[in-house]
Amino acid sequence: MASKFAFTLLIIFFISQIYLCFVPKTAGALLAQAPPTNALVLPVLKDGTTSLHIVNILKGTPLKSIPYVVDLNGKFLSFSCEQGYSSSTYNAPICQSTQCSLFGTHFCKKCSSFLTKSGCRNNTCAVIATNPLTRQNVVGEIAQDVVAFQTLENGSNNPRSLAVLRHLMFACVPSSFFQGPLPNNVQGLAGFNQDQTSLPRQLSSKFGLHPKFALCLSSENNETGVIFFGNASYRIASRNDFSQALQYTPLSIGSRGEYFVTIKSIMINHKPVQFNTALLSRTMISTINPYTTLEHSIFQSVTQVFAKEFSAIGASQTNAVSPFGACFNKLPRHVTKDGILGAPIIDFVMQNENVTWSINGSNSLFQARPGIWCLAFVDGGFNPRASIVLGAFQLEDHIVEFDLSRSLLGFTQTVLSKDDSKCSQFNFNSTI
Ligand SMILES: *[C@@H]1O[C@H](CO)[C@@H](O)[C@H](O)[C@H]1NC(C)=O
Ligand SMILES: *[C@@H]1O[C@H](CO)[C@@H](O)[C@H](O)[C@H]1NC(C)=O
Ligand SMILES: *[C@@H]1O[C@H](CO)[C@@H](O)[C@H](O)[C@H]1NC(C)=O
Ligand SMILES: *[C@@H]1O[C@H](CO)[C@@H](O)[C@H](O)[C@H]1NC(C)=O
Ligand SMILES: *[C@@H]1O[C@H](CO)[C@@H](O)[C@H](O)[C@H]1NC(C)=O
Ligand SMILES: *[C@@H]1O[C@H](CO)[C@@H](O)[C@H](O)[C@H]1NC(C)=O
Repeated sequence: MASKFAFTLLIIFFISQIYLCFVPKTAGALLAQAPPTNALVLPVLKDGTTSLHIVNILKGTPLKSIPYVVDLNGKFLSFSCEQGYSSSTYNAPICQSTQCSLFGTHFCKKCSSFLTKSGCRNNTCAVIATNPLTRQNVVGEIAQDVVAFQTLENGSNNPRSLAVLRHLMFACVPSSFFQGPLPNNVQGLAGFNQDQTSLPRQLSSKFGLHPKFALCLSSENNETGVIFFGNASYRIASRNDFSQALQYTPLSIGSRGEYFVTIKSIMINHKPVQFNTALLSRTMISTINPYTTLEHSIFQSVTQVFAKEFSAIGASQTNAVSPFGACFNKLPRHVTKDGILGAPIIDFVMQNENVTWSINGSNSLFQARPGIWCLAFVDGGFNPRASIVLGAFQLEDHIVEFDLSRSLLGFTQTVLSKDDSKCSQFNFNSTI
């Protein structure tokens, strides 16, 4: 009896606190019921100016679309609510509440202003938010508000629905936080790291989704790729399900919740690149670095070998365009314009030679100026935080899955090779 009672209480708690409602996308009212979901999808736009990737999240009452830069290693969402943010459902948990303790370090905050407004309330929790581009810290107020995400229906004929969450937690920060090379219109940063407060962790715990998400970032400026949350099948163009094409490597977590994998060696055209392998620490994955960064001597070896192999088949090298180390102004005739075919293949070898991240021309050659293609790696100097930081350009048009329950990173080779699929082909308007 007691356990049944406890179970009922648990269900009531679950329904009242957490689960909220699922509504058809087309319905105006947020009250109609729709079936629960296994997975959510979120469009992710490549910003042409900064090469950063932006998600637009529906938030507040009334729901408004708000652009956030995706920060894979960020701990939580930070949002500028100083300017023109008036949501009737905004609230800030009181100091020392359980919500605040999820954020780890926090402290009680007062606001000297007379006016109560978002981000400036008495007896709320303050948290330090760090801008990953400038390393600048600001104090933000822990807050929560309504958000809505599109569901990925499984095999049904229902239109896609919106799943609404009443209490997504975030840090409300001053707009001065958003400095550095960020897209102009951006109003927030969305942290995707392993902590309980990150966007994927909150979606997973509050919607009961499997703790897993996958990126399929567009390589084309101003085009939209997709992020999947939960147990999704990775259908990009409708015929192609890439779920079976993933290779897996162990995923480890850094002291600040960042994602690391192990790369044991680097090959170019199937030949090992010579460098001091003692320099290889864990490899970090980052969406804030537009290009992969290599420790100085690794960078030099990779650049030299790539240039030699590429020149051997007829590419001609020209002066390097900053921040790159090797650029080419004539591609071999058989190399297609986007470089996918024929450029030397770079393999990052993971736990053994059967598990490699292959980088074809589409992820190694960046057109820095008209007619000039550069090897899209940058020099990380002598003492970088990680000897390799796998950056956004190399993640694009691959499916990259972060399975937090199994601590595995799943990845496909470029999706471009299969019937010209690309991440920007994901159709948000049709049912799969
Ligand atoms: C916060 O409390 C202080 C006094 O401790 C008061 O002067 C101030 O007006 C209050 N601010 C708000 C936003 O309530
Ligand atoms: C999704 O649909 C497929 C095919 O209809 C089925 O095999 C699978 O079990 C479904 N998955 C879930 C989680 O319902
Ligand atoms: C997700 O998929 C895994 C593996 O198939 C399964 O064990 C798990 O129960 C699923 N979780 C949910 C919430 O559907
Ligand atoms: C991307 O969009 C912005 C603004 O919408 C525009 O200024 C820019 O020219 C576009 N870039 C490309 C490559 O289409
Ligand atoms: C990469 O390009 C080569 C041709 O240069 C091709 O044989 C190979 O299939 C490509 N790999 C992928 C994963 O597309
Ligand atoms: C790699 O794959 C080959 C062929 O499938 C297999 O014989 C070999 O044992 C594998 N190596 C490792 C280290 O798993």
